[in-house]
Amino acid sequence: MGNLCRRLVGVLVLLTVFTENAITQLYGQDAVHSNLLNGKTLRVASVEILPFVEFLRNENGDITEGRGFSFEILNALMETYNFSITIKIPKDEAYGALLPNGTWNGMIAMILNNESDVGIGSFSVTHMRHQFVDFTVAYYEESSGIMIPAPVRGKQLSTFIKPFQFQVWMILMGILVVLPFVMWMQSKLLAKAQRTNPKKQLAFIYGVLLTQSGQKIPEKEHSLRLLAMIWFLCALVFIHAYIGTLVSFLSVPNLKPVIRSLDELPASGLGWIVWSGSDLESLFLEATDGIYRIIGDQLRQHPERLVDFLVEGEQAVKKGGFAYMNNKARIKYAVEKDFISSGFTCNLDVAKETFYKVNQAFALPKGSPIGAFFNKKILSMLESGLMEHWRKKHLSGKDHCSASHSYGALLRKLNFDDLKSAFLIWFVGVCIAFMVFVVENIVYFSGKTEHHGTW
Ligand SMILES: *[C@@H]1O[C@H](CO)[C@@H](O)[C@H](O)[C@H]1NC(C)=O
Ligand SMILES: *[C@@H]1O[C@H](CO)[C@@H](O)[C@H](O)[C@H]1NC(C)=O
Ligand SMILES: *[C@@H]1O[C@H](CO)[C@@H](O)[C@H](O)[C@H]1NC(C)=O
Repeated sequence: MGNLCRRLVGVLVLLTVFTENAITQLYGQDAVHSNLLNGKTLRVASVEILPFVEFLRNENGDITEGRGFSFEILNALMETYNFSITIKIPKDEAYGALLPNGTWNGMIAMILNNESDVGIGSFSVTHMRHQFVDFTVAYYEESSGIMIPAPVRGKQLSTFIKPFQFQVWMILMGILVVLPFVMWMQSKLLAKAQRTNPKKQLAFIYGVLLTQSGQKIPEKEHSLRLLAMIWFLCALVFIHAYIGTLVSFLSVPNLKPVIRSLDELPASGLGWIVWSGSDLESLFLEATDGIYRIIGDQLRQHPERLVDFLVEGEQAVKKGGFAYMNNKARIKYAVEKDFISSGFTCNLDVAKETFYKVNQAFALPKGSPIGAFFNKKILSMLESGLMEHWRKKHLSGKDHCSASHSYGALLRKLNFDDLKSAFLIWFVGVCIAFMVFVVENIVYFSGKTEHHGTW
């Protein structure tokens, strides 16, 4: 035990030394002293969008520091190349979309107007933007997600048949229909063999099968008793399996998400809201066919559904009747934040399927010489795993609300395989009962009317 501990400590020390080395290499020792960046101040354009960009402000409301996934990367670049930054927010708080009159808005406009040297944030690399600005190498890939109202409670009426699959119900019904006739016939044959009157009726045998107490099968009909006994045993298993599963179905609410994918959105009755100036605005408005076109048409009819601020869209979904689209990490973050601020209730949800996967990078003016330096460093951060570390730190927060209905999906009906053992007992029992039945017939027909011993 002590030996193992010592080894573990050894490995930990090694790991720490290794990590420290890696970090000093990344930050300090290979600092590049390029005249282009050393000691300079870059004008950074950015828009607050947690968990990518978060601003810390002083008491005057001036931005003092940037935090979040994107700023981890920028801070590493600053350490390596020894430059400082000033942060400026575009007036329209947008990333940048091409307007109908051919001008750009948001951060792209700032870069084009020489108001900024670099645009930082969850910048999607799109074909249209790329014609006007440069991008660094992509440091991350992200899909778009849909924020929807919390799932609605599904119908509870049919819960009582839910525990078993259809197949299982059919087999049970089959047994209940066939078994009494078999027992009835058997009983008649045995009575004939013993030369007594067959007094048992079908109804009586049904009583036995439905495990009603107070029914007695004559002692001498061993095969019948065996058959009934095996049935009771199996019935016990079925009843308990049924009740257990029924309770779990009743205690976990049957939650159905409002929609699962973008394709279901137009028919869902929900309106949709898109952040103005985002890559999604361009995606939908420029689409010429398919689902993106359908989404775009409604945005053209209702320009007010292109909202200027992130929170506007998120609040509209909460009020009801709307879905809101943005990059998935942002949507998940906002849903989780609402979950916590509303006292751990899920008012919002994230549609299961994402769409439009796109690269994220920093935007630079066309032909900017700093691009080459940034790329070099970003590639080394990607290869060293540092980027993955930051991604985990910032973008993989807890996700209570979409987890709650996937928990419901874990519940499943019991199928034949689950109840196989009970059916196997039943089958073996029937075989034994049949053999006893044959023996009984031989014994009784051969004239012995007395038979001792009970079960
Ligand atoms: C880094 O930049 C500062 C100015 O911002 C300068 O004083 C300092 O000498 C630079 N460091 C190196 C190692 O060149
Ligand atoms: C283009 O349109 C936007 C708003 O739609 C406006 O703010 C901007 O001034 C216009 N630019 C030109 C060059 O007309
Ligand atoms: C852009 O602005 C900076 C600072 O305001 C200035 O030094 C630089 O010459 C400008 N670049 C161009 C191409 O106008």
